[in-house]
Parts: sequence; C-alpha cells; structure tokens
Amino acid sequence: MKQVFGVFGDPISHSLSPAMHNAAFSALGMDCIYHAFRVKPEKLEKAILGAEAMGFGGLNLTVPLKEVALKLSCIKPDPLAKKIGAVNTIVFEETGEIRGYNTDGLGAKQALQEAAVEIKGSKIVVAGAGGAARAINFQLAADGADITIVNRTEERAIALAKDISAAALPGKVEGRGLSELKDLLQNANVLINTTTLGMHPNIDSTIATADNLHSGLTVFDIVYNPLETRLLREAKASGAKTVSGVSMLVYQGAEAFRLWTGIDPPVELMKKTVLEALKA
Ligand code: ATR
Repeated sequence: MKQVFGVFGDPISHSLSPAMHNAAFSALGMDCIYHAFRVKPEKLEKAILGAEAMGFGGLNLTVPLKEVALKLSCIKPDPLAKKIGAVNTIVFEETGEIRGYNTDGLGAKQALQEAAVEIKGSKIVVAGAGGAARAINFQLAADGADITIVNRTEERAIALAKDISAAALPGKVEGRGLSELKDLLQNANVLINTTTLGMHPNIDSTIATADNLHSGLTVFDIVYNPLETRLLREAKASGAKTVSGVSMLVYQGAEAFRLWTGIDPPVELMKKTVLEALKA
C-alpha cells in the first residue's frame, strides 16, 4: 500500500511541495504519495495525531502552522526548531514519538553553498526580520557568518539580533534600520532578501537597486514568485552573483525528505519540477 506524506497549511492550494516530492518518489521508485491538506491552526493537533494514526510517512507544515506546532504537547521539537520558534517538518518515529524540525535555515545555507559562498566569516546583510529571517539567521550564525539584520521596523531587527546573540552561536549578529542598507552593502559579501518586497503582485518593488549593489556581492532573494524578481535583475545589472528562492525551496524540501526516509533525493529533478510548475 502507498505510504502517504503531506503538507498542512491554509491556504495550501498553490503549494509546490506535492509536485516536488512526488517527482522525487517516482524517480526513486518509492511507492509513496505526497498530498496537500488544508488544515486550520485550531485543528492542527488533531490532524497531526490523525496522520500518525493512519501511518503517514511524514509531514511538512507551512503558513500559518509553523509557530503553532511548537505549542503542541504532542510534538517534540529539536533544539534548532525550538530556538527558531517554528516547525516545518514532522517525523513520525517508530517509537511513536512525533519530532519537529525546521529545515528552512538549512535550505538557505545549501542554496548559498551551491553558489560557492563560504558562509564562515562572510559578511551577510539580511533584509527583513520576520519568520523566514529568523530561521535563516539562526542557521547562518551557527555556521559563523557575521550578520547585520536590516528591517523597516528597526526594533524588530534589534530584537531578533538579540535573540540570536543570546544563543551564543559562533557568528556575530546586529540589528539596524533599513535606511542603513546602502552603506552596509559596500563592505558586504552577501545580501539576502527575506522581505515580501518584489513578491507577486508587487513585482516592481525591491529593497535595493543596481547602484547600491556591486560585483563582489552574492544576492539571494528568497522570493520565488516571480522567478526572477526585480532585486535579482538589479543584482545582475550590477555584476553581482544571484541565487533564486527556488534553491531554498528545493533544499529545505530535500532536507525534509532525508529526515523522513534517510534517502538523498534527486535535488536537480526536484528543482526542474518546481521551475516547470512555476512557469506553468
Ligand atoms: P515572514 O514570516 O514570511 O518572514 P513577516 O513576518 O510578515 O513574514 O515579515 C515580513 C518582512 O518583510 C518584515 O521584515 C517586514 O518589515 P516590518 O517588520 O517592518 O513589517 C518586511 N516588509 C514587508 N513589507 C515591506 C515594505 N513595504 N518595505 C520594507 N519591508 C517590508
């Protein structure tokens, strides 16, 4: 009988995870199916316990469930997910334990590594201080990056930097206002956009233009809709290297796949599947 995997969220109909994981299962000849389920926050615990009872192979959680999951007594979060304050992957152990992980930060790290960025010692400017920024910054600080978080609401950047610093990770983290972005970029190696600027339908907005960027930078936009954001176009015009949000989406999914199955999934095929789904 097919083993079922799934993603829970609300809204969920546009999720690219089913196409990505089903392509991987099929290529590996695994008798598994991955489906999207619309689950409201107040029903999350029942849904997870139901999935466990029905023998699901594993789950992903997305908006608005990642933070809610951490409050559920049925889930045992791993230390990184606990620090981040959000769970995006659930593993059903044979012992009956339900474990919660967060693979978003690892997805971002691997997307940067694919672009040959050496994270340790890198000067990274992260724009935005929401949930995505939190996961990415905890991971990159653990890997020894020197991070400045810039945010429209400066207090949020300072608060996030303080939280990460309290975890005593190898990397240094500071919080600043968005108005300092231009100056900070002059000495930076990497810019990561975690804000919603440039995301469909606001495709003309960007946190930086070509005149603020330079050829020594790698510019990574976690927004993948549109595929090439205005920020990535501005980065190309300045001679900077670019990393698209699709890489992070695929690598966070690949990491979840490994946690569920212990098998390395076909990452290139997953990426191709996501790109095709986005173009369609
Ligand atoms: P997520 O959890 O997906 O990261 P979020 O918590 O809503 O989403 O965070 C969105 C981020 O985009 C925030 O850093 C937000 O800045 P504020 O903290 O000041 O709200 C940023 N953002 C959204 N719209 C923006 C805009 N027009 N200009 C600059 N930053 C913006």
